Amino acid sequence: MIAKTTIDQVYETARVEEVIGDFVQLKKSGTNFKGLSPFTDERTPSFMVSPVKQIWKDFSSGKGGNVVAFLMEHEHFSYPEAIRYLAKKYNIEIEETEQTDEQKEQANERESMYLVSEYAQKYYVKTMWESERGKAIGLSYFKERGFTDDTVKKFGLGYSLDEWEAFTKTALGDGYQLEFLEKTGLTIVKEQSGGSQKTFDRFKGRVLFPIHSMSGRVLGFGGRILTNDKKAAKYLNSPESEIYHKSKVLYGIYFAKQAIAKEDNCFLVEGYTDVIQLYQSGIENVVASSGTALTPEQIRLINRLTKNITVLFDGDAAGIRASLRGIDLILEQGMNVKVCSFPEGEDPDSFAKNNAYEDIVLYLGENAKDFIQFKTSLLAEEAANDPIKRADTVRDIVNSIAKIPDRIKQEIYVQECAKIMQVSEEVLYNTLAQVNKKGVSDAAKRAKQEQKSFEVIKNERPIEKVDVQNELERKIIEILLLYGNEKQEFEDLVLKENEEGNLILEPETIEAKVYEKVYLDLQEDEIELSNERFRDVYYGLVQKLNEESDFSITTFIAGLDQEIGNEVSSILMEEEKYVLHNWESKDIYPKPKEYGIAQLVSETILTLRCNLIKNRIALLQKDTEDSNDHNPEVLEEIINYLQLNKLLNEKLNRVLS
Ligand code: CTP
Ligand code: MN
Repeated sequence: MIAKTTIDQVYETARVEEVIGDFVQLKKSGTNFKGLSPFTDERTPSFMVSPVKQIWKDFSSGKGGNVVAFLMEHEHFSYPEAIRYLAKKYNIEIEETEQTDEQKEQANERESMYLVSEYAQKYYVKTMWESERGKAIGLSYFKERGFTDDTVKKFGLGYSLDEWEAFTKTALGDGYQLEFLEKTGLTIVKEQSGGSQKTFDRFKGRVLFPIHSMSGRVLGFGGRILTNDKKAAKYLNSPESEIYHKSKVLYGIYFAKQAIAKEDNCFLVEGYTDVIQLYQSGIENVVASSGTALTPEQIRLINRLTKNITVLFDGDAAGIRASLRGIDLILEQGMNVKVCSFPEGEDPDSFAKNNAYEDIVLYLGENAKDFIQFKTSLLAEEAANDPIKRADTVRDIVNSIAKIPDRIKQEIYVQECAKIMQVSEEVLYNTLAQVNKKGVSDAAKRAKQEQKSFEVIKNERPIEKVDVQNELERKIIEILLLYGNEKQEFEDLVLKENEEGNLILEPETIEAKVYEKVYLDLQEDEIELSNERFRDVYYGLVQKLNEESDFSITTFIAGLDQEIGNEVSSILMEEEKYVLHNWESKDIYPKPKEYGIAQLVSETILTLRCNLIKNRIALLQKDTEDSNDHNPEVLEEIINYLQLNKLLNEKLNRVLS
């Protein structure tokens, strides 16, 4: 674990504009910077970076946050990866928190394995480019396959000499320990009868494809044989290890991640060479399952980047069968899947090699089918005149539809299936219900739940329709963020009894910090913010403001999770939006914040309270109407609320005047 002190130091040192400047061309614009969104293909800049607030906001995709959020979005780093990246950039030494001896050992062991793998990768590259045999055998093999020098370098391809111990000896000579050479599988150790050991290079006389993690570390290798030896396996791969878990890795993901997110689609192929050839042709959003059956973990890797997968497979029967199994797994995770086959005898590798970029794109566009079209067309010929086969096909498709966690999507597919297979929707729904009853798989259930919570959050986001309540709650957060700690004089109206014994409103001036005023006023009505995320931020903020007199927005955002951090940045960036759209020139001015913080606070709180009470009254009235029961208690409650509302409106009018 990275120590808190290191994390704090990283946040203090890192400059959001410098970090983003490494990825996006930024131009100064007032106090801010702006540039083209790295998340969409736009022509006019809507990407903003605020050096003052140390946050960024992409108005075209809605994303935003602090410097770490940017690295997580753009580079798809995990949180610790982002911190490590920044520490490296700013030469901050990373301090690790105390670990148990066992944890230390494990971390050390993994780290040593990473280092050995990285060393091996460099060694194989060097061997290929610098030794005579490397050039004559390894490099020329790749050239023959049509890979350019740039491609070979980009993917870190290499060659291992056809010798028993060339690599192992060099590695040991360079100080790497046999223990880790063995644990990564690079070296095979055999015990001899006399108690001595003999070592062999695992990859001998093969060209090598390094396999990278999402963040670019070398995890293992695939080695392709160069002879036509029928007895030896065509590909030899690194064994499973502490750092290489076949089922959790996708070949090419490190190179493809940016393009996958940008294109919002991922092409899935079978082999190393398919990935490289497509990439070289300009299709960069491509990864391979490396010949094994697709696993849920692999799909989840893609799911972080896009919801859309297009499976590409060879024209042979084995390829089709393998891709059929994969489809249901992808559907189960709530993703959209298309399938595309290639002409007889071609695979993605050969097709990409023999066609220009435009033609490949055209072919994929015209031939990618959704899974229903694919399954029906597959069985179309044989099933056409065979009612039993047709029924099987329908059932097969319904089974796939049942895997989809999203109800709306299910419905659309039912309609499509009904049309193509000429069955009534009713029958399909019945079949679907039967399948569902038989038990949705756990995976689908889980995905369904994830989907649900995701949708709830999504719906709360006030994107198009202006939700008054939401806007007000948002404003409260903004006020706390910007002015929470400022001392202000507030004029409050207090209910007092006058000489005649009547209740009247008397003005009274109180001095308080903005956050205290907000908190106490809201508490008075026992109101809670209705937007769950604002509520979390609200309580977090009040607590922080209460604890720390030197409250800083930057540290506060740093401690938020990504989703909420994003929300907070959008709130803070609201005012920048005006600058961005150059609204001054159009004579649309936002309200200046300086027109009186105390007034802004009072006005917002009162409006919010009025609004909440209005909603409350409406709800109560609806309840009594619905139940047709004129419960006197409820009526009294309504009357009380109406009175309170009147009172608050009076206050509001005073504040506004
Ligand atoms: N594979 C493997 N071990 C094998 C055969 C295949 O690990 N013995 C994996 C490799 O990742 C390979 C993928 O399955 O890339 C697809 O296999 P195949 O189509 O046979 O290989 P290609 O990638 O087409 O290899 P090439 O074009 O070099 O023959
Ligand atoms: Mn091939």
